[in-house]
Amino acid sequence: MPVILGIETSCDDTAAAVVDADLHVRSSVIESSMDQHRSFGGVVPELAGRAHVTTIGPVVARALELAGLDPTNPALDAVAVTAGPGLIGSLLVGLSAAKAYALAWGVPFVAVNHLEGHLFAPLLEAPDLEWPLLTLLVSGGHSMIVLQRGPGEHVVLGETIDDAAGEAYDKIARWLGLGYPGGPEMDRLAQSGTATALKLPVSMTGSDLDLSFSGLKTAVVRATQKHRDVALVDVAASFQAAVCEQLLRKVRRALETHEVAGVALAGGVAANSALRAGLSRLAREFGVESHLPATVMCTDNAAMIAAAGLHRLRVSGPSDFDLSARPNWQLADVP
Ligand code: KG4
Ligand code: ZN
Repeated sequence: MPVILGIETSCDDTAAAVVDADLHVRSSVIESSMDQHRSFGGVVPELAGRAHVTTIGPVVARALELAGLDPTNPALDAVAVTAGPGLIGSLLVGLSAAKAYALAWGVPFVAVNHLEGHLFAPLLEAPDLEWPLLTLLVSGGHSMIVLQRGPGEHVVLGETIDDAAGEAYDKIARWLGLGYPGGPEMDRLAQSGTATALKLPVSMTGSDLDLSFSGLKTAVVRATQKHRDVALVDVAASFQAAVCEQLLRKVRRALETHEVAGVALAGGVAANSALRAGLSRLAREFGVESHLPATVMCTDNAAMIAAAGLHRLRVSGPSDFDLSARPNWQLADVP
């Protein structure tokens, strides 16, 4: 049975994973350099790239060991790696390492789009899920609603015209004096706040499926300047309600116009408690399955890259060794 090594280095996480052809995850190792970036309030590309250089070897060796493979001569069938989108310096580290491993072990290497990788996360928990699938992919860098007719057959129905949902969380958290990345802390605070404390607009109420978060961001800044006495938990709850209202409103519209068997969440913001609860409710209302992968599979990891790599290898074959990093690789341009 084919076994594939996945490598992911598009941002601050150095990740490696071994996945079988039936999408069973044999190992998944993630080493983050976030501690080096926190005080800067965002990921510093140069620091991220350097951290990958020192971490990639040990992370790959650990993933192979945990999968019961010999790190010097593993019985693998291919190496998959994120080629974009992402930070160019970080992508190049993973890509160069993947090519070197593939050459040394005499196996094919396959370049994977990071966003397509995120779309494979729900399959790691439910390999036999029914298609078509409507996926809300929300992370620190991207926010989109994607219709998948089958594995790797995706159409972007709508996407953000400005900030990503996670980016909006991080920026508002920063404005409120919270740490980076701010999504998890905002989510925690929101759970004990009152969502009606601040009156915030719900953006993008038109009939299309695009998203926008910059107006909401400005509204929160203005509202907190005007009402300085509103508690932090209430600001977080009001913001979270407005973000979820917009996202779920658009998913609802997509469900009304596209017949699907299930809805899924992917990307780091998929860890959000209100979004998970809201999407489950919508799925029940429309009588479709809901796929909410564990947080560790929603945030950046290499198991999803390996899963997407297995698929790309089957349908498109191996990649050329002269393929370079593609920092702006759009999902619509895959394969
Ligand atoms: O997918 P991811 O790990 O990295 C990117 O590819 O961007 O997503 C990270 C993003 C950050 O913006 C972070 O604040 C956000 O996901 N995030 C959350 C939560 N957990 C992580 N946002 C809202 N609620 C959460 N619980
Ligand atoms: Zn990501």
